[in-house]
Amino acid sequence: MASVIPNVTAKFGLGRGLAWVLGTALVVLSPTLASADPVDPAALQRFVHQDCGSCHGMTLMGGLGPEITPEAMQFYDRDVLTTVILDGIPDTPMPPWRPLLSPQEAEWIADYLLTGEMK
Ligand code: HEC
Repeated sequence: MASVIPNVTAKFGLGRGLAWVLGTALVVLSPTLASADPVDPAALQRFVHQDCGSCHGMTLMGGLGPEITPEAMQFYDRDVLTTVILDGIPDTPMPPWRPLLSPQEAEWIADYLLTGEMK
């Protein structure tokens, strides 16, 4: 580990400190979402259960946040659900995910929550 950081700093010049910190933060939050592929179903499924699951429960049956299973979501319109995921719910702990997810990824998650099926 001690040898990695000097290598990185030598390589990237000014601003590398910030890049390093941001890169590390992204990797820690979601290792696979940083990839170029716009939608990676396996990664998104893991993301939903781990990141969304940290509040909604690993099985999405509820925790700090309410249950978000297909049964609980059946009255949601797909577009509304996508917007809830991207923008969060103001004045509640439900955060906006726009910084981490593309609109396509949020749509995928909306479909996933509505159907419970991998596409
Ligand atoms: C920091 C905790 C937290 C995380 C992480 C989180 N949520 Fe939430 N979420 C909440 C809370 C709290 C609510 C309820 C807000 C309210 O009072 O209306 C909520 C509400 C929702 C709702 C509306 C539920 C309903 O019955 O209307 C949906 C859908 C939802 N979250 C999806 C997600 C998805 C998808 C993710 C992952 C991308 C996610 N949430 C991550 C806390 C969280």
